[in-house]
This record gives sequence, C-alpha cells and structure tokens, in this order.
Amino acid sequence: MRYGLVIALSTLNPCRYLHEPKTRFPVGRLFPLPGRELHPLKAPGLSWRTEQRREYLLDVDAVSLCIDPADAERRITPRTRAIMPVHFAGQPCDMDILHDLAKRCGLRVIEDATYALPASYRGIPVGAISELTAFSFYATKTLTTGEGGMVTTENDALATRMRMMRLHGIGRDAWKRYSAEGYWYYEVMDSGYKYNLTDIQSAIGIVQLEKIDKMNAARGEIASRYTKGFARERTLEVPTVNANRESSWHLYVLRLNLEELTITRSEMIERLKARGMSTSVHFIPLHMHPYYQRAYGYQTEEFPVASAQYQRYLSLPIFPKMTPMQIDYVIDSVLEVIEGARL
Ligand SMILES: Cc1ncc(COP(=O)(O)O)c(C=O)c1O
Repeated sequence: MRYGLVIALSTLNPCRYLHEPKTRFPVGRLFPLPGRELHPLKAPGLSWRTEQRREYLLDVDAVSLCIDPADAERRITPRTRAIMPVHFAGQPCDMDILHDLAKRCGLRVIEDATYALPASYRGIPVGAISELTAFSFYATKTLTTGEGGMVTTENDALATRMRMMRLHGIGRDAWKRYSAEGYWYYEVMDSGYKYNLTDIQSAIGIVQLEKIDKMNAARGEIASRYTKGFARERTLEVPTVNANRESSWHLYVLRLNLEELTITRSEMIERLKARGMSTSVHFIPLHMHPYYQRAYGYQTEEFPVASAQYQRYLSLPIFPKMTPMQIDYVIDSVLEVIEGARL
C-alpha cells in the first residue's frame, strides 16, 4: 500500500501521547485527554473543549458502527475543537462527510485508527487521510509489537515536534549522537516525555510490517468465508463493508436478531464456549460504564444506536493463522447453536 509523503512516528502509547497536556504541539494543546477514553463504542467518537479538556461521546451509525456524522453535527458546539473518528472493527468511517463537517465547523480531524492497519478509504490508506492518525500495536491488534503504536502525519512541523517530545524533549536521539555518523552534541528543547517505542519493539514491528498485507489477506479470506457461511441465516446479520473501503478485518462482528431466538447473547457465548470456541463482545459502550455515568452523567438513552446494537453483537475468532478447518468449525458451531435456539 502506498502512503505517499506520510511521516510515521513510532511511540509507546500513541493515543496517550497525543493527548498529554504538556505536549505543546497543536494537538497536544487542544486535546489533552487520556487515550483510554478513545475506544470505539466504548467511545464511538469524540470531540473536545479546550478549557475543560472534555470529550463528548457521539453515537454510531447502525450499519457500520462507525461514528455517525449526523449525530456529530448535532452535538458540535462553538467550543468544539476536534472530531476523532474511530474506524470500528477496521472499517474506515465516512471520511469525506467527516472532513466536510470539520471544514464547515473549523475542527481538526484526528483519526483513531487503532484497528485500521491496513485499511483504506477511496484507495487512500488510513494514515494518509487526515492531519493526524494514531495506530495501536498492542498485543491484540493486526500488527503487534506487544505494546506501542504509531502516529502518522504529513505535517513536517508537527512530526518534528512529536519526534522531540516523545523522547525527553531532546533534539537528537541516541542514534543521532552515538552512531558513526552521529555527533555528541544535544540540547533539551522542551519538557518532553518518555514515549519512544523501544528498539526491540521496533525491530519486531519492522518484520511484522513486511507481513502486513499477507496477514490482511488472510483476515479478509476468513471474513468472506464467515459471511458466506452465515449469509442465509435470518437470525444473523453479517458485517458489511461500505463501497470504496477496504477493512483491516481486525474484528468480525456478527449481530444476532434476538427477537428470532430463544436464547440471549450471553447464553450463545456460553454454548459456543462449551464447544471450545472463544467469542467476545466488542465493546461495552463507554456511556454504560459506571465511571462514565458517575463522572459525566451519561444515560443509556443518550446514545440509542450504540446502546441497542451493543445487545446484539458478538465477535467471532479471527486471526491470520486460522486454518480452513477452524473456520468451518466456527461456522458449524454457530449454526448448530442457532438451530437449537430458533423461535
Ligand atoms: C479505539 C481505541 N483507541 C485507542 C486504544 C488504545 O490503544 P493502546 O492500547 O495501544 O494504547 C484502544 C485500545 O484498544 C482502542 O480500542
């Protein structure tokens, strides 16, 4: 995939790093929030106010489970500074509409592409679409270095600032000082952080990066086999990818038509577990967690789509080394459980 002139910076915790208050690159000033609050559905989409440094959750689109641009537009206030779309499960959000909205309202767009490596929108890779994009290399992601991630930007000044601030605010890292071409002199330019990805993690990441297209093709193949396997089952809704988009297929999120089943989603999970199959739920929406309700007074009804869809979804196993036998086993198991639970 071609990323053009994008500058990619590895960092130990890209989301956290982008939101540190001390980081004085523009985004740091505007959006100093803990990265943990950037989860999709846990936080379907976010916008910030500068003074209070507060994020506001947005509801999702019922089909893609990505940020709903219409809901974003409704919730924007004159004090909103940025919008942060999360590419749910690896499918890019509608970036044209979001960029248009951001332009009209004078907002920055920061993509939370935690799940979207590699994914593309109208042929442009995620990471080369907006001013800033953050990816995660955490253990569960499509590319992993154990922990860490990367931020991409086309903005040179921003990249220079981020490069410096991720390592103590020092102008030149150890490689630039101690290698044969290096020079000993360095200056501390600002009060920086220790957010550099380690060399060991980077070495792992570079090898992983060489395999990313192959791993992505394997995930895509699993997804299409699942979709084919479940296509005729009316109690299930398979995930779809909108036109002009390529998904990273980080997750395969099936949805249950619960009104046609005699069992709940939890019972379904238990029955699949009894067949040796692990499934999960991605994610419990942020506004439904006790902390967020206590701290921000969120109510379930404020995000009707995320609240309703949350009851229905179930993530199936998906990983590049899945064998055809394992894929078939998943399909057969789901269909068998459904067969015994049809209304
Ligand atoms: C949407 C989203 N954003 C950000 C993060 C944080 O990523 P990391 O664990 O690499 O800090 C996560 C973690 O899973 C996430 O789901």
